[in-house]
This record gives sequence, structure tokens and C-alpha cells, in this order.
Amino acid sequence: MNKLIVSLLLTLGISGVAHAAGDAAAGQAKAAVCGACHGPDGNSMAPNFPKLAGQGERYLNKQLQDIKSGKRTVLEMTGLLTNLSDQDLADISAYFASQKGSVGAADPKLVARGEALFRGGDLAKGLPSCTGCHSPDGKGNAAAGFPHLGGQHAQYVGKQLTDFRKEEGGRTNDGDTKPMQSIAKKLSDEDIAAVSSYIQGLH
Ligand code: HEC
Ligand code: HEC
Repeated sequence: MNKLIVSLLLTLGISGVAHAAGDAAAGQAKAAVCGACHGPDGNSMAPNFPKLAGQGERYLNKQLQDIKSGKRTVLEMTGLLTNLSDQDLADISAYFASQKGSVGAADPKLVARGEALFRGGDLAKGLPSCTGCHSPDGKGNAAAGFPHLGGQHAQYVGKQLTDFRKEEGGRTNDGDTKPMQSIAKKLSDEDIAAVSSYIQGLH
């Protein structure tokens, strides 16, 4: 793409990435070191390592910028992003976004409660449904930077919701309006277990 068009798209906010347009083919080679934990195609095997395959490019790029700057703490990735440029992060994001995400299974005992929460929220607690931002099939909204959740490991999802809920030392990089911090504070441990399990099987 020509530079003028790229900058025009960026000005209009159409491009999904913050600084540069990502090149998935270039990203594949740059992502080699990530495969040890996240899987070569972004479908990690370990339930504490998030799947990146099929995740929205804009969301991935934002997380990488946040992890690099320390706005989001990921101890396992300490130092890994230090020598990567904005272009590298954009390319890696494009690569994982272009891969197909795998889906797991929900625990049959938790599925009813998880589905009710995901689709309906909880009016009494002022909890909105998750579908409004993450979409009914869990695909999220790539252009808006709302992450794809469907098929993600339940253990990872549960840890994120618990981290968003923490008063101190948790995850606070969800933007000025803090949607996830305010939502997570309305979830009980049982809610988190149920909705995380439901998400793991969602597609
Ligand atoms: C040693 C294991 C390890 C390596 C290597 C690693 N990561 Fe991670 N990564 C993690 C863990 C663990 C988390 C989740 C931390 C948490 O629970 O919040 C994570 C989170 C992420 C996230 C956020 C995902 C989301 O859904 O919000 C992105 C993006 C990411 N890693 C990209 C990368 C990239 C790109 C590389 C290579 C440059 C890489 N990681 C290398 C362990 C690793
Ligand atoms: C108002 C919009 C909105 C609603 C409603 C919402 N979310 Fe989110 N959610 C977001 C945004 C935006 C992010 C990404 C924050 C960031 O950039 O780090 C996010 C991130 C997440 C993440 C972290 C994903 C990852 O890969 O690390 C999880 C898990 C999550 N949401 C679960 C839920 C659940 C469960 C519900 C319903 C109970 C819900 N969300 C409702 C906007 C929303």
C-alpha cells in the first residue's frame, strides 16, 4: 500500500493498528520466539498461556504496546519485547490475527450459568451482557479493539477477570472508561468460573 493511503487510513482511524500497518508474512518469522508459549500458529496448548490465533489485530497490537511499556504486567514476557520496534509488533499482530483459532469445550455443569451471564448479564447487579462488546459468538469487534474471546482457555480467561477485579496489582489497561474493571467487580468467583468455562467452548 502506498504511504499516503496508509497515513490517510490512519488519520481516519480505519486501520486497526496504532502506528503502522502490519505485514503478516514478515510477522511469522518475528514471532518464532513466541511460539514456545503461545504455539507456533498462536494456538497454545497450556491453559495459562493465551491463544493468540484469530485474535483481532488492533487488540493484539495494543496489548503488545501495553506489555512493552509496562502498562500491563506479564512477568513471563519480561524483556522479550524490548528490542522489537512498532513495526515488528504490528507485523506480529497481523500474523497471529491471520491464523485460525481453535476451540475447546465447556464444562457441562457450568454451561447454563455461563451462557446466561454471557448473553444476559445480571440486571439485579447492573451487569451488562458480554455480547454487546464481545459479540454473540464471542468473535469480539476487531475494528473497535474488543477482543475475540471464543475458544480461549478458561484458565486464562478466569485469571484476566480476577485480575481486572483486583483493587490493587491487577490488570488496569482497559482504557479510560475501565469497562472490564467495573464489570469484573460485579462478578463472584462462581460467576467467573461459569462464564470462563462457557467462553472456552464458545464459537
Ligand atoms: C515464557 C512464555 C511466553 C513467551 C515466550 C511469550 N509469551 Fe506472551 N504471554 C505469556 C503469558 C503467560 C501471558 C498472559 C499473562 C496473563 O495472565 O495476563 C501472555 C500474554 C500475551 C498477550 C496478551 C494476550 C491477550 O489475549 O490479551 C500477547 C498479545 C502476547 N502474550 C504476545 C506474545 C508475543 C508476540 C511473544 C513473542 C515476542 C510472546 N507473547 C512470548 C507468556 C509468554
Ligand atoms: C462495554 C464493552 C464491554 C463489555 C460489555 C464487556 N467487555 Fe470484556 N473487554 C472489553 C474491552 C474493550 C476489552 C479489552 C481491554 C484492553 O484493551 O485491554 C475487554 C477484555 C476482556 C477480556 C480479556 C481478554 C484477553 O484476551 O485478555 C475478557 C476475559 C473479557 N473482556 C471478558 C468479558 C466478559 C466475561 C464480559 C461479560 C460479563 C465482558 N467482557 C463484557 C469490553 C467489554
